[in-house]
Amino acid sequence: MSRDDPTTLADTPLQPGAVDLMAGLATTRAIRRYRDEPIPERDLRDILFAATRGPSGSNRQPFRFVVLRDGPKAREAKRLIGEQARKLWGAKRQNDGYDQGSGVQEDSPKARMARVMQTYVDQFESVPVLILPCLVRYRAPNPMEGASVYPAVQNLLLGARALGYGGVITGFHAAAEADLKALLGIPEEVFIAATVTLGRPQGGHGPVRRRPMQELVFEEGWEQPPAWAVDPPGIRHTSAGPPKRRTG
Ligand SMILES: Cc1cc2nc3c(=O)[nH]c(=O)nc-3n(C[C@H](O)[C@H](O)[C@H](O)COP(=O)(O)O)c2cc1C
Repeated sequence: MSRDDPTTLADTPLQPGAVDLMAGLATTRAIRRYRDEPIPERDLRDILFAATRGPSGSNRQPFRFVVLRDGPKAREAKRLIGEQARKLWGAKRQNDGYDQGSGVQEDSPKARMARVMQTYVDQFESVPVLILPCLVRYRAPNPMEGASVYPAVQNLLLGARALGYGGVITGFHAAAEADLKALLGIPEEVFIAATVTLGRPQGGHGPVRRRPMQELVFEEGWEQPPAWAVDPPGIRHTSAGPPKRRTG
């Protein structure tokens, strides 16, 4: 679907996903390396359709998505967020000891992660699509309010995965929030909930690695894992958080 002809999208059905839902969610990883390809409008429509199917309290639908591609404001928003991304990653790289311990070995997971992150922030301005999921606040901030926007954000990532795209949620916009609001005309009461970058992955998709289910699922009480909460075959695990400084 070309950029010049978006009107026919109203007659174009949603396309089927390339992966089954369970396989898709088991392989929806954080993707930070993109091919230099725009996302066609039909795909964008389908991905944002998935996002806008997210749940929210009383179905108020307070989520909004500001899509930024390659227009003048998009370029400026990417620059503003890219600057913050480089600052934040620079500090994290140092604080979390990415260049210490196993980080000095080029082929260690830690060093690989540092390389991916560095390239991601260095090339932030050229991400194919940047999306700002927002929450229109209708009452004072409260701990539950994110639940009316973040499920929609995960739907967005799953919709992208279904069509062979990948993305990542970041908090890089936070320090640039005032500038972004001014640039994009986002009202004061609106909370910019995340920055999501999207594109066709340079590498593969999954699999997602997490802790064993036995550490995460309880029944009938805290830290009481039920016998049925075991990972399916072939699942590899990972511990939580950034690299541990001492073990390297
Ligand atoms: C609330 C939240 C904040 C995040 N912030 C950032 C961020 O600022 N920068 C970034 O590169 N990734 C960010 N991420 C992505 C996480 O690092 C990623 O989801 C996590 O490491 C799991 O990655 P995986 O699904 O590939 O295993 C964030 C994710 C969430 C849910």
